[in-house]
Amino acid sequence: MERMFGKPVVTQEQMRTRIRELGKQISADYAGKDLVLVGVLKGAYAFYADLARAIRIPIRVDFIVVTTSEGRTNRSAKVKLVTELTENIRGKDVLLVEDIVDSGLTAQRLLKTLAKKKPRSLNLCALLSKQDCRIVDVHVEYVGFKVPNQYIVGYGLDYRQKYRNLPYLAVLDKKDLQNE
Ligand code: IMP
Ligand code: MG
Repeated sequence: MERMFGKPVVTQEQMRTRIRELGKQISADYAGKDLVLVGVLKGAYAFYADLARAIRIPIRVDFIVVTTSEGRTNRSAKVKLVTELTENIRGKDVLLVEDIVDSGLTAQRLLKTLAKKKPRSLNLCALLSKQDCRIVDVHVEYVGFKVPNQYIVGYGLDYRQKYRNLPYLAVLDKKDLQNE
């Protein structure tokens, strides 16, 4: 039997409904365009797979792998691109898919990097947004859910590389960390 973990903040049912809506909206907004859906791994893998299948227009898929090292004072220095895109996005309509936008530094850095490749358009879609935690202002065109400043795991999001496989989103509290 599945062990319940943490306090679910967004249920699987809520995610299904919201992702269906996002897929519809993105399909309408990008109809007739040349959409490349760029997923940020590892965190966005679960959301990406569901979102891509909720989009009902032909798209290209691509990914970048990013790592963040903790404990640096300069938060922008922590983001490291481990892989490059495989698609040529010049002149294409790019939608970057993130798990969560917190300070905004990761998204800002990635958007800057992608913009250099001269796509026709570039937008950001994030499953979650911690609006109150921004250090830099990034525009998130498509937001799944706005969440308060709590540490969230599951559905791709990790705590020290674990819990990504939880099928729902849960708040990690101190009690849950006792076994870490
Ligand atoms: P930012 O650069 O501060 O916006 O942070 C973005 C990255 O930090 C995300 O892509 C996540 O990998 C990670 N992150 C931020 N908040 C959380 C959280 O609540 N749970 C899990 N990962 C998080
Ligand atoms: Mg992470």
